[in-house]
Amino acid sequence: MKELNRRQFLKGAGSLLAAGALPVSLVKVALGAGSGVENFTFAHISDSHITVPTKGTSVRNWDRGLIRAIAEANLLTPKPDFIIYGGDLAQLGKKEEIDLALELMSKAESKVYYVMGEHDYYLDLGKYWESKLGPQWYSFDHKGVHFVVLNSILTYDTWTNKKWPSPMDRMLAMARLDNPGGSPFMVGQKQLAWLKKDLQKVSKDTPLIICSHSPLQKIFKGWNFWTEDAELVQNLLTPFNKVTVIYGHVHQIQYNQMGNISFHAVMATAWPWPYPQSYTQQPSYLPELTVQMNRADPFFERDATGWQFINLHTGNVDMHYQLPNNQNRSVVFSAEAGRPVDTVYQPLEKRIPPQIHF
Ligand SMILES: [Fe+2]
Ligand SMILES: [Fe+2]
Repeated sequence: MKELNRRQFLKGAGSLLAAGALPVSLVKVALGAGSGVENFTFAHISDSHITVPTKGTSVRNWDRGLIRAIAEANLLTPKPDFIIYGGDLAQLGKKEEIDLALELMSKAESKVYYVMGEHDYYLDLGKYWESKLGPQWYSFDHKGVHFVVLNSILTYDTWTNKKWPSPMDRMLAMARLDNPGGSPFMVGQKQLAWLKKDLQKVSKDTPLIICSHSPLQKIFKGWNFWTEDAELVQNLLTPFNKVTVIYGHVHQIQYNQMGNISFHAVMATAWPWPYPQSYTQQPSYLPELTVQMNRADPFFERDATGWQFINLHTGNVDMHYQLPNNQNRSVVFSAEAGRPVDTVYQPLEKRIPPQIHF
């Protein structure tokens, strides 16, 4: 294992990354005394949408991507310190779906921290998930970094508790895009109060990593690429020097920088979503920074699915997206630019024009 100082690493990283070979598993970075942050890596797997085929019906099972992601996480050297699972384990929140997903996840050789997704929640309001995995929001510290896991897919009580013909009707109302019967996601007052209190004990120099399911920024309301009270969460994060928000749900690469907060979306193991504007012809607030993925065949369900390895070497996050059937991508924090940057496609002249899917 190589020992490099930070300057050497940053200098060398560009060429290595440009070659598509992020040495996340090979390089140990010595940050020097007093940095407070020890170099480490973790893996992120999200949005597996596991279904269980039932007798007599043909139900697609999305387990292949999840199985592959876990196998790859187990093969990383050195082993990731842990895995974050970004939500939507199940497709319709059923016990048997959660059970099957967790059976597959049990093959992971690292500890897993779980985030709640709307597909896990709206059948029984998270009760079965909670009985298996614990609280819906929590925090922990790891090697000088404070991690916060939020449940960002809650909504208005009036919507949640209205007289649904059945719990499955409520689930289905949240389970698809462009559903007029759905409701915006939010963190909610109770959790915001908890977050405020949780962050009070954290020094402003401690790097923060916030894991949510929906983006803690507003991108496209029709698909719930949106959290209604995102600004209230951002306000609580503003006083900290280094903050990264990592979210699932959107099944596509997105990244942004708002003040001190870096945002990164992660890939799904189940299927990719198109970029909202390319499909709906409606304007969306996809961050300008985001270089859209080249999806050579948007109708091929495995194209641009993936999982990601995250290297944390300065208190900021570098994302490496492993994308079977598509080009791997790396989006790393550029200290010079002060924001995440795609290592290959960020310059305008190198970008592949966004596809139109309608
Ligand atoms: Fe999802
Ligand atoms: Fe979701």
